[in-house]
Amino acid sequence: MILVLSDQPGPTEWGESRHGVGPWEQERPGQLADDPRYDPELLAEGDRRNVVDAYRYWRREAIVADIDTRRHDLHIAIENFEHDANIGTVVRTANAFAVNTVHIVGRRRWNRRGAMVTDRYQHLQHHANIAELLEWAKQQGLIVVAIDNTPGSVPLETAALPRRCLLLFGQEGPGVSEDASSKAAMTCSIAQFGSTRSINVGVAAGIAMHAWIRQYADLGNAW
Ligand SMILES: C[S@@+](CC[C@H](N)C(=O)[O-])C[C@H]1O[C@@H](n2cnc3c(N)ncnc32)[C@H](O)[C@@H]1O
Repeated sequence: MILVLSDQPGPTEWGESRHGVGPWEQERPGQLADDPRYDPELLAEGDRRNVVDAYRYWRREAIVADIDTRRHDLHIAIENFEHDANIGTVVRTANAFAVNTVHIVGRRRWNRRGAMVTDRYQHLQHHANIAELLEWAKQQGLIVVAIDNTPGSVPLETAALPRRCLLLFGQEGPGVSEDASSKAAMTCSIAQFGSTRSINVGVAAGIAMHAWIRQYADLGNAW
């Protein structure tokens, strides 16, 4: 086996300056910065945030409002009874797919590190328990689909997901609680072929969200 080692810096060495633009005057000298969506501080200091180029210099509220015009009928819920460090990853992916809202069930606090600040642009809602989440989903006309590889589950690869959908994920260890899976419209599993019992919940959430995207998203709206 030939191992090729790169002398180029990797993602962890790129540092702050990899993304973004400098002050407006440097980037676009002489051009008017008169868009009300622009943030005066970002115009003056530069914009190094991890946002798509179309949102450079925009205020956070303006970015959220713009995504709100294109959010999908897809909601995500994750059980948070044991402090799951993967919730941040789920939130980041939900943001990338313009998910309507990420629902945190159980503990209010969660580890935001993996979210890489994307939680600032993503609607989040807390529910004390599964009963509260399910009641809320019913009122909104959302069909709850649990995602777990438990006996009796339907392969996600061939399942037809509902358009108005709430995908519910469990945690490392316990998985989706019995309380939740027994009340979901169906449980979908992601096919596995190796030795491990399950995949990381952040990865599973990405796969399941993308299954919905493949079915319903208008790719003309993608960046
Ligand atoms: C690490 S898993 C726990 C699985 C279960 N407790 C076990 O060990 O058999 C945590 C969560 O990731 C998701 N997950 C992981 N692998 C999955 C798969 N193959 N199919 C569907 N969901 C999966 C589910 O939402 C699950 O509740």
